[in-house]
Amino acid sequence: MTNVLVADDPLYEKLYDVRREAEDIGNAVDVDAIMPQVHRLRAEAPVHKGRLRELLGLPHHDRHVRARGRQHYSVLTYEACEAAFRDAQTFSNGVQGNDNPANEKTMGILEMDPPMHRAYRRTIQPKFLMPEAMGWWRTRTIDGIVERLIARMAKDDRAELNLDFCARVPVYTITTAIGLSGDEALTFRHAYLHSTSQSRNTTMEDRVRNGRIVEDTLLGLIAARRAEPQDDLISFLLKTKLMMPGADPRPLSDREIMTHAKLVMVAGGGTSWRQMGITLFALLTHRDQFEAVRDDRALLGDAIEEGLRWNPTAPYFYRMVTADTEFYGHQIAAGSVLELGLGPANRDPARWEIPMSTTSTATS
Ligand code: HEM
Repeated sequence: MTNVLVADDPLYEKLYDVRREAEDIGNAVDVDAIMPQVHRLRAEAPVHKGRLRELLGLPHHDRHVRARGRQHYSVLTYEACEAAFRDAQTFSNGVQGNDNPANEKTMGILEMDPPMHRAYRRTIQPKFLMPEAMGWWRTRTIDGIVERLIARMAKDDRAELNLDFCARVPVYTITTAIGLSGDEALTFRHAYLHSTSQSRNTTMEDRVRNGRIVEDTLLGLIAARRAEPQDDLISFLLKTKLMMPGADPRPLSDREIMTHAKLVMVAGGGTSWRQMGITLFALLTHRDQFEAVRDDRALLGDAIEEGLRWNPTAPYFYRMVTADTEFYGHQIAAGSVLELGLGPANRDPARWEIPMSTTSTATS
């Protein structure tokens, strides 16, 4: 195990400030303050014309280039969100991509639709199923990190849980799972975030330079593992075969492996860090529930699920409408964008017995 776990690298403070991260892209939201408005809108109709942020009086923020300038619809009920998520033919993931000359799917499976989505997803999915999560991931990395970090907190008799714990577990786990060394975790994340950042403070030059660092690092790692496989995700992906319907199975190309690795880094790193903080905050501000989980570890899974329902760190996702369609009372034209409100759906009284909860402030 390397030093990154316990080192007081100033990059941690720079990269793991939730409020600053959200404010940087004009995206800091006080969940409790907007929730009454969410309930009012949802009670009026499951789907509204317009952007969710606009409907809630929040500053404009474009998450995806492909969504710019299109008509948006916001989906607020659990039932309507589920219907859209399940109909990939009408509501496409294509909205998540970036336009580039080579038409490369730089966002990987996140921007693919079936059957391509399923075929590519299958090449990596075995590593993310429960037996591997509780086996390979835990024994290889997670148990060790958690024990080390807790020992450090216990020794100091204090803890700043965001920086001392939540920030460190996911980035270290994911970076080392891919096959990079733990010491590279922070610098790699820093480069990755700056290569994709939409912050006003990041120049195009920064993005290109950092994008090159990310690609060179990953392509170098893939070449090294091709020569000498090890027990990591890159070596696993080098062995798997892509099985597209109607085509012969074939190995993934280096760029396809790189895209999988980048997506896993970004999808797993930030979300897990923030969601861990949200759930710990919820438990620490509800001592009865904290004690119940501590006394009965079987409740842990439900506590994590409830944290995700209560305040999901990724509260809305986009889909592109592929054909003119009627959806919950709206005639929606092809080319429009649906904003699927996981946050609003997760507090929908038609789905949840006690949808509202306690008070908190979170950024999203
Ligand atoms: C609590 C933490 C997490 C949250 C809240 C979260 C949330 C989400 C959501 C809502 C989506 C769906 C996006 C869409 O359909 O448009 C998604 C997709 C995805 N997430 Fe996560 N995620 C978390 C952790 C992770 C981790 C740890 C990894 C990997 C190490 C990961 C990898 C992915 C990938 C690869 C996709 C694309 C899946 C697909 O298109 O089939 N996520 N995540």
